[in-house]
Amino acid sequence: PDIAKLITDLPKAELHLHIEGTLEPQMMFALARRNKIDIPFRSVEEVHAAYNFTNLQDFLNIYYMAANVLVEEEDFRDLAVAYFDRAAADNVVHAEIFFDPQTHTDRGIPFDVVINGLLAGMKEAREKHRITSKLILCFLRHLDEDAAFQTFRMAEPWFDRIVGVGLDSSEVGYPPSKFARVFAAAGKARLKRVAHAGEEGPPEYVHQALDLLHIDRLDHGNRALEDTELTTRLAREAMTLTVCPLSNHKLQVVNDLHNHPIDRMLARGLRATINSDDPAYFGGYIGDNYRAVAKARNLSREACVTLARNSFLGSFLDDQEITPHL
Ligand code: ADE
Ligand code: ZN
Repeated sequence: PDIAKLITDLPKAELHLHIEGTLEPQMMFALARRNKIDIPFRSVEEVHAAYNFTNLQDFLNIYYMAANVLVEEEDFRDLAVAYFDRAAADNVVHAEIFFDPQTHTDRGIPFDVVINGLLAGMKEAREKHRITSKLILCFLRHLDEDAAFQTFRMAEPWFDRIVGVGLDSSEVGYPPSKFARVFAAAGKARLKRVAHAGEEGPPEYVHQALDLLHIDRLDHGNRALEDTELTTRLAREAMTLTVCPLSNHKLQVVNDLHNHPIDRMLARGLRATINSDDPAYFGGYIGDNYRAVAKARNLSREACVTLARNSFLGSFLDDQEITPHL
């Protein structure tokens, strides 16, 4: 009967996690000191006080600033290891993590430093916790198509260690259509394709992600619910939605967690999953997201089991790797 215990015990896959969004204030200070980087905070309390976002851009401004403390390969490894340690406590057995190379290469950090550090952390997690993981390279949509192509070319030698490409950052004003060509190139390279759409942006952006980017998975997708035909299509196509309840609340995609649409999504036949997005900024990791939304929406045990099962169905694992989790 204890739903919190059920949630903790359920094996889960995490499908929407920005590794830069796992940078806890403590580590931010430690790396700032280690790398002699200035940050505009003097204490963890000051950091928490600054995490009072009213929209996506408010958050992104702080998130990109904080990422400046990540410099050495070891920093990226430490960041990943800290995430996997925390994820293991929530019974995450598989994670498909986003990274934003442009955030780092644009300030002179070599692509290889970023990816080698992350891959080292992923290897450590596999050995220490038996957690499997995959990397998804995200293009920053507030930057132009040329920049995305440059990043794509830079990543080419690493394609055997990247499962797919994604699209993130400021949504409104930066439609998926801008990136149709680089996503087509990614498809040709047999990479999976995902995109943030319908977080702040309109249902039209979800249509574009489907029809122009040919996505395999939809990140957020909340605003798709405003379009009945689109919702029906997403259900019919068994499109996985990577939903992030605490993020949605913190960024005011929903005004109150009590109004979160997670159960409406399931009721409409959508393959919804629960994820943490940027847990160091939004007040909780994946277990916290499940528990908070389960409480706010009075989710049944069955709904929680479905959400965890969906996370494996929606993952980029092979069928034989998924089957034991169904
Ligand atoms: N980058 C990190 N988190 C993001 C989010 N929730 N939406 C868009 N870009 C992001
Ligand atoms: Zn996200």
